[in-house]
Amino acid sequence: MPAAERPHVNQDELKRAVARAALDFVVPGAIIGVGSGSTANLFIDELAGIRDRIAGTVASSQKSADRLAGHGIPVFDLNAVDDVPVYIDGADEITAGLAMIKGGGGALTREKIVAAVARQFVCIADGSKLVSALGRFPLPVEVIPMARAYVARELAGLGGRPVLRAGFTTDNGNVILDVHGLAIPDPAAMEEAIDRIAGVVTVGLFARRGADVLLLGTADGVRTMRRAQ
Ligand code: 5RP
Repeated sequence: MPAAERPHVNQDELKRAVARAALDFVVPGAIIGVGSGSTANLFIDELAGIRDRIAGTVASSQKSADRLAGHGIPVFDLNAVDDVPVYIDGADEITAGLAMIKGGGGALTREKIVAAVARQFVCIADGSKLVSALGRFPLPVEVIPMARAYVARELAGLGGRPVLRAGFTTDNGNVILDVHGLAIPDPAAMEEAIDRIAGVVTVGLFARRGADVLLLGTADGVRTMRRAQ
């Protein structure tokens, strides 16, 4: 349909459309990994409609766990779970190669853990999140509080401008440095370089373990993109 004839679709509607589309990836009878953020929240609300068809969930943040529980959806401790066939979560930026920046909501560490356990990562995002190169969105880095100044100097050495996220403590009791202006031509190499800094708990680059599937909300409908094998 020509752009001028398309009905206007706002960002929340696009998020809701991908949240609904993600239900097709829910494995019946299984434990579902559930992410954090406004798009993941909409997925949680959709999941409530089919809660009797799943065994339960593992959540990547306390906020998501609380929302799931509010819908009467069981939330398990990850240590009590052997298999997570699918993890469904949003992103702050994602490339066509399905590398992501995550952590805008500060849940990056638990997100990375659940993503590592999951066999398939389905990213749900509105079209504004698709970028040709990562880095316009400030890169979140979770840091042990006593290492904050040291890590900030190291991140500046990599070419970024780290800013402490004011008044914010992660679910793990740590702080977040949001790194502005970082050029990220090779996301996997940058992920590795930042991971190596002592005091870094997690960097919000999800490149070595990126998404397997992207459900992208566009004015023309939900577009499905898959990671090249
Ligand atoms: C939280 C995240 C979120 O997935 C990311 O910030 C996207 O959030 P939203 O769906 O609200 O745009 O990584 O730590």
